[in-house]
Amino acid sequence: MVSVCLIAWSPTPTKIDAAVLSVRFAPFTKSPEALAVGLRPGPLLQPRALAAEPLVSRALAGRHSFKAEEEDVLPVLTAEGWLVLVGLDADDEDEGACRWRRIGGALFGELADSGIVRLDVALDLPVQALAEIAFGMSLRSWRAPSLYRSKPDPDEVWTLAEAVFVTEDPASAQSCFDRLAGLAAATALARDLVVAPGNRLTPASFITFLAPLVALGVSITEVKPDELGLLEAVGQGSAIPARLLVLSWQGGQKGAPPMLFVGKGITFDSGGLDIKDEEDMDEMKGDMAGAAAVAGALYAIAARRAAANVVGLLALAENMPSGRAMRPGDVVRSFSGLSVEILDTDAEGRLALADALAYGAKIYQPALMVDLATLTGAVEVTLGRHLAGLFSADDDLAEKLLAAGEDEDEGLWRLPLTDHYDEALKSAIADLRNCQWEEGPDALHAARFLQHFVPAGLPWAHLDIAGVSLLEEDGPLAKEGPTGFGVRLLDRLVARYLER
Ligand code: BES
Ligand code: MN
Ligand code: ZN
Repeated sequence: MVSVCLIAWSPTPTKIDAAVLSVRFAPFTKSPEALAVGLRPGPLLQPRALAAEPLVSRALAGRHSFKAEEEDVLPVLTAEGWLVLVGLDADDEDEGACRWRRIGGALFGELADSGIVRLDVALDLPVQALAEIAFGMSLRSWRAPSLYRSKPDPDEVWTLAEAVFVTEDPASAQSCFDRLAGLAAATALARDLVVAPGNRLTPASFITFLAPLVALGVSITEVKPDELGLLEAVGQGSAIPARLLVLSWQGGQKGAPPMLFVGKGITFDSGGLDIKDEEDMDEMKGDMAGAAAVAGALYAIAARRAAANVVGLLALAENMPSGRAMRPGDVVRSFSGLSVEILDTDAEGRLALADALAYGAKIYQPALMVDLATLTGAVEVTLGRHLAGLFSADDDLAEKLLAAGEDEDEGLWRLPLTDHYDEALKSAIADLRNCQWEEGPDALHAARFLQHFVPAGLPWAHLDIAGVSLLEEDGPLAKEGPTGFGVRLLDRLVARYLER
């Protein structure tokens, strides 16, 4: 087997404007432009910052609709400046970080384009809670980069640029926040990749978007291995050939088997010759959200210098119709040796992933493998837009992923992975076919197809993130658009395995 290494980092980086809110912690605040204070729900709303009490009572006079429930935010213009009332629910000792993040997200969402530039936050909460609120604000502050416009769109410019959290212990609040700041930047990177247009982010230019990882010590190599027949077939209709990017963070014991994360990186999915309907085809520039999540996770892991060996494999290709494109009915030899009949060229993600999984398992001998992919429209029909599909034959890995998803509010739901689905994947001419039409929605067959390319005994999980990679309307931690789903989840998975 010959692996041709094309590049080990040399391209000119693609520059993206830093889109994340600036956060500070300080012991006190003087005549702020805008001050956020917390309130409890109940018949008598109780302000937490006593100094602000008279101000709060005056601001609240006559505003009966404000119930101070969690995620309620009410900005009030007073003679002294903006007072921002923030609803807080029952008890501060609640361990769940996610509720604080959602409060932060709601706060940013409400004030993003309010005209307020600097917000001082006086919430009188434990430092961990303050750091999580700051994290939620940071996540919600992402917007599409302006590099694709000649001048910034005034509707997309946030006025709110800085949050200063008042605390008696700024140093420990800052150290709680440091790790989260890395995770916010990692999520922003993943979202930047998902919104990048298909003509800008291609299998060839993808590496130029990853300069921030290199700056953190992640090594990146671009390989065009022979014998990845399926990946090559997916890209062969495009003028830009398919390839693999290998991202490697070696923070653990030398020689210890890595955790391997594999991402579907179809930079544009037209469907190929079995072309998609025009409706929503533009969304298919985001068919690399799995690869984006893997890149983001490596950023986060490197940013906190995790004591782990982690390898990310990005399976990059553009699925296009042309005179050189793969045809329905073609039979292609995979890296693993199995031959595959390509029944439908729009079921391309599983082809690209099948080769990446088999290659990754063989070359890196990982301790475990997790792939993320916008693989099927069917998973959205099954689980909706809140949960991603989890497929794994390894209960331990599945449980760790489910727990990580719960911790991070990136929910997963386990779906079946069994040999019931093999009958429908039988081909009349080859070892397997890439999809079936007889049994309807097809996330389960897609997962089972992938399993044929994973060595038995290697802990492996497949996450179908097609339903959760984009939001159709503003959510608590992201505006309408890409979510960066998977970055926090994978970061937490690494922590669960290595940093107990
Ligand atoms: N990238 C799509 C899946 C997808 C659909 C992601 C909608 C996000 C939103 C994938 O490559 C695809 O086309 N899947 C087909 C498979 C079918 C042809 C067997 C599908 O799900 O319809
Ligand atoms: Mn497709
Ligand atoms: Zn696709």
